[in-house]
Parts: sequence; C-alpha cells; structure tokens
Amino acid sequence: MTVLTKTEAEGAMPVMNAPELAPRTITKPDLYSVEDAKALPTERMTELFKAHLNPGQFHFMKLLGFHKVKVESAEGMYYIDQNGRKILDFFGGFGSLAFGHNHPRILEARRKFQEEKRHEIAIAFMSQYATALAANLAACSPGDLDMVFLGSSGSEAMEAAVKLAERAAGPKRPKIVYAENSFHGKTKGVLTLTDGQLYRGEFRLTDNTVRVPFGDIDAVENAFKSDPEIGAIVLETVQGGGGIIQAEAEYWQKLRQLCDRHGVIWVADEVQCGFGRTGRFYAFEHYDVVPDITALAKSLGAGKAAVGAMIAKRDVYMKAYGTPKTAMIHAMATFGGIGEACATSIEGLNVLYDEGLMENAEAVGGYLIERLNGLKEKYPRIIKDVRGKGCMVGLEFQDFSQTLPAVMRPMVGMLDDKLKGSLSGFIGALLLRDHDVLVAFTEYNRNVIRLEPPLIVERSHVDTFVDALDQLLGRGVVSIVKDFVKSQMG
Ligand SMILES: Cc1ncc(COP(=O)(O)O)c(C=O)c1O
Repeated sequence: MTVLTKTEAEGAMPVMNAPELAPRTITKPDLYSVEDAKALPTERMTELFKAHLNPGQFHFMKLLGFHKVKVESAEGMYYIDQNGRKILDFFGGFGSLAFGHNHPRILEARRKFQEEKRHEIAIAFMSQYATALAANLAACSPGDLDMVFLGSSGSEAMEAAVKLAERAAGPKRPKIVYAENSFHGKTKGVLTLTDGQLYRGEFRLTDNTVRVPFGDIDAVENAFKSDPEIGAIVLETVQGGGGIIQAEAEYWQKLRQLCDRHGVIWVADEVQCGFGRTGRFYAFEHYDVVPDITALAKSLGAGKAAVGAMIAKRDVYMKAYGTPKTAMIHAMATFGGIGEACATSIEGLNVLYDEGLMENAEAVGGYLIERLNGLKEKYPRIIKDVRGKGCMVGLEFQDFSQTLPAVMRPMVGMLDDKLKGSLSGFIGALLLRDHDVLVAFTEYNRNVIRLEPPLIVERSHVDTFVDALDQLLGRGVVSIVKDFVKSQMG
C-alpha cells in the first residue's frame, strides 16, 4: 500500500523509500455499554460475577439470598430492586451512607460540576476544590488537626496516617501498637495492624508491631514502658469490624496522657465511626481528647465518590514532610484531590451541618438502642447484648451453636462454616427475604449484626426495622433456623 505523505498530497515530489505506514485497525472487543449493563438480568450478572469478579464471594451472597436482588435505583433510606421492592437500608455500606442514597443536594453539586466542565485531576495545578475541602476538614476538626492528605479510600488514608506517624516518630522508634480485633484496611501496610487472621492470610507482614487488648489501658502503659522503640499507637475509636466495641472515656483520657508522657503518636482511625456517625464529628470528641493524626473515608464521599482523608496536627505533619526536600515523600496520589469527588465532599460537609444530621444520629440512634434493649428484655435467650453510640449499633445474639436441639445440629452443620452457631446470618437473610430490611454482618464475631443506617434515619424507620425483628424473633430460634435451612435446600 502506498501512503502519501502530507507534502506528496500537496503536489510535491514523492518521497522515495518511504516506509509502509498502514494504519493499524484495532478491533473493538464485544463490550457492554452502560445501558447494556443496566439491563443485565440477575442470571447473567451471576455468571459474570463468578467468571470475572469473585466466585467465592458469590457463595456467601447466595447463602444470604443477596444474589436475587438487582438494585435498579436507590433513594434516601431505600434500595429499589428490579421488582420495585423497597429495601430499608440499615446496613448503610458499613457507614458510607451518612446522607442516604442519592441525596438531592449532593446530586445537584455534582450535576453543576459536570455541566460546567470543571477540572478533575489535581496534579499539575492547585485545585480550588482540594484546597477548600482540606480547609473544611480542618474547620471541622478540633485542636490543631489542620493538615490534610486526600486519597480515595479508608485504607489509603490509614496508610498515609501510619507513614506519617512513622516518619514523625523517627527511625529509633519504629514500633507500632495496635489492638486485638482491629480493622484498618486490607492494603499491605495497614494489614500489619489489622487483627483478622482471615485478612492477614499467609502474607509476609512486618514484625515491628505490638498487639494489645482493646480498651485495656494497663496493657498500653506496660507496652510503652517496656519498649522504648514504640513510636505510635493506632486504634479505631469505636471498633467496627470487631463488632461495635467501645472503650471507656477514662481509657481515652489516660491514653492521651500516656502518649504525651512517652512521646508516642496516637493515630485515631475514624474511617467507620467518624463523620458524625456517633453524634459527634469524630467519635473521640465524646471523650474530650484529640489524637495526633486521624483518618476519615466512607461517608466523606457522601455516598457518591471515593474519598479518604488523613488529618494531622500541623507540628507532626511538618516534622515529617514540612520542607521542600521531604514534601514529596508522601504527597497525594493520582486521584488524591480529584475535582468532583472533592466537590461532593465539600457539599456533604455542608449538608451534615445544615441538616443537623449529627444531632439526628444521636437522637434517632439513641431511640434505636432503646427499642433494641426492649427486645433484649423480651428475648433474653436470643439477644445477648445491644451496644453502640448514635447510628453505630451492634446487636449481639447468644451463641446457640451448643444449645440448638440435637436434631437440628446436622442441618446447621450442612451449612457453611461461617454461619454455624451464628443467628445473625439466619436473621439477616430472613429480614431481607420476608421484611425487606438489609443489615450488616461482622467478620470477627459472627453473632453480631451491625446497624449503621444513614444519618437521615427517622424514628419511623427504626420502628419498621425493630417491629420486623420482633416478628422474626417471636417465631423462636428453631423455627428461624429451620426456615433458613429450608431456603438453602430450594
Ligand atoms: C475502621 C476502618 N478503617 C479502615 C477501613 C478501610 O477502608 P476502605 O475499605 O475504604 O479501604 C475500614 C473499612 O471498613 C474501616 O472500617
């Protein structure tokens, strides 16, 4: 094939021996369009999920009956499925949905951003959105928690927090204290501080860590006293993955004193419990203490964007990255501070205060706890504990693996290992199937249901949920288990 150069085409002498430059045709693979994706039936989604996403995870979805649901849309407190069924969301994306689904003010801020073709990637130029979001976060944070790193997940925010702590502590104090039953993310660095064997797997993790029981201040003191190489302590203020576990106010106050005395940097992971969920912007504010570094994610993205943030005391930050020479050691990654995500978070922070969502979380969350305590009194042999703060509530069932009538044990034994002895799986599955309510489970303690509804939740939603649970529990454990086992046979 002869290819004319631009000059040849304009009448000049042909260039001799020009290389053959056949334009390459790249065949488009058989791709789904967005509208194709929207129209996928659940059967096809199942095939694709198993073939390309996570076949093992599908097993659990099926066990809980989640695989039958195709969410067509979501609004406020509800998912709406392919049959128009409204599912009340008390799961709340493990705390990611402070504003519920598709809050109109969040949608509007994003719509304007898109319509005006505002800019996204904040690498070359400063971004007005990233700077404003950082300033907003500093304004929402107590003390001199003023310096912000923006990323796109909780793990990334925690990685930034731990790296900052390590640099600020210096090379002579590389050890980090973390708590039993902690969850700080699954990326390689923070996995070292995440206490689940399932997640840690066989990975080679660093050994510069010291593990202590959560909420035990003597254990922290002993660790600090006995090991001068400890430079940081990393703790969730309320343990989410551990099953909504809180420590006493005194623990946090003494922790602050101990950290000051021993020069240890305290990193408070507020990825799940922060952003107003417990009725304060940060859960540590309940205890009148301020950590050296903290992290937010989940609801910071207002249910529409992937945003994580580390917020640090200025002196700690400056110690680690304060000079031009050190500034780029851990500067924001490609998507850190991306425009529309920051605009979403900025609007989210404004909505949080304008709509009084933290006050609502405290009041309606308190009502939820009160009503669940009523159920605990009514069903003491089924419910073991109700705990939490605001809209971060744990409901623990009695472990009935040893007390189930002998005739039922083989049936339950046929089920997956994970669900054995755990009423929460059975109850969660039946709440969804029969009562259109979604709740969350807890990896570290299979007897705990986690309730983290959006902060827009109303008392009527609580009544709907608690009445449904009451009806279900009223059937008795044996009937619940039988029904669940039967549903697995079908
Ligand atoms: C307390 C806590 N920290 C960190 C993370 C990690 O966040 P992400 O899943 O956004 O990476 C989570 C996620 O559940 C969390 O609950």
